[in-house]
Amino acid sequence: MDVAFHWLAALRPEAAPSARTGTAPPREERLSLPGRRTVLLRPIAPHDADAEQAFVGGLSLATRHKRFHVGLRQLSPSMLRQMTEIDHRDHVALVAEVLADGDRAVLPPLPLVADARYVRSAEQPDEAEFAIAVADDWQSLGLGRTLMDRLARHARGQAIRALVGDVLPENRRMLVLMRGLGAHTRPHPDGPQLVQVVYELGTG
Ligand SMILES: CC(C)(COP(=O)(O)OP(=O)(O)OC[C@H]1O[C@@H](n2cnc3c(N)ncnc32)[C@H](O)[C@@H]1OP(=O)(O)O)[C@@H](O)C(=O)NCCC(=O)NCCS
Repeated sequence: MDVAFHWLAALRPEAAPSARTGTAPPREERLSLPGRRTVLLRPIAPHDADAEQAFVGGLSLATRHKRFHVGLRQLSPSMLRQMTEIDHRDHVALVAEVLADGDRAVLPPLPLVADARYVRSAEQPDEAEFAIAVADDWQSLGLGRTLMDRLARHARGQAIRALVGDVLPENRRMLVLMRGLGAHTRPHPDGPQLVQVVYELGTG
C-alpha cells in the first residue's frame, strides 16, 4: 500500500464485488449527542457529493492527516464519485447529517459531520477495510464509537468476519476507541509508520 497517500485499498478498480445480492444498506437512525446536538446516521447517497466535499474540506489538517495520512485538501472528482456512488453491499458508508432543530436541514447540500465506511477485500471477502472521520467540532461526543458499532453491526450481516484499518501509531483516540470495542492491533506489513487495527466481529 502507498503509505504516502492512504486510501482504502479496496477502492481501486480491481476490487471485485462479491456475488451476494439482496442485502439492505444500513438503516437510518436518529442519534442524540451531548449538548442537544442531533444527527441522522444514514447511508451515503450520490446527492451527498457536494456535502462530502465540504465535509473533507472542513476537516482540520490534523484530522485529514489521521484519516488520509496526508493533508489532502479536497477529493478529486473520481474519488468523490467512488465515495458517494457505492453499492452499499461491498462498499458501505454511513454519514452523520446534522439535524437542525430536530428536523432534517432543509437546504442541500446537507451538512455532514462524520463519515465511516468499509470496503470488502477482493482477496479475502470475509474481511473489509474500514476508515472513519468525525468533524473536529463533533469529536469526543461518542459519534465515532457509535458509527464503528453500526458499521460492525451491518458488516456482521454481510458475512464479514473482521474489519481491518490502517491507523497512525500516534492516533491515540482511534486506538482507544477500537480497543474499547474489543479490537486488537498488529504490526503493519508496510512498516512501523502504521499499525493495523483488527476488529474481529464474531457473531456479536
Ligand atoms: C478517531 C475518531 C474517529 C473518534 O471519533 P470520536 O467521535 O471523536 O470518538 P468518540 O467520542 O466516540 O470517543 C472514542 C473514545 O476516545 C476516547 N478519547 C477521547 N479523546 C481522547 C484523547 N484525546 N486521547 C485518548 N482517548 C480519547 C474517549 O474516551 C472514547 O472512549 P470511550 O468511548 O471508551 O469513552 C475521531 O476523533 C476522528 O475523526 N479523528 C480523525 C480521523 C481519524 O483518526 N480516523 C481514524 C483512522 S481511519
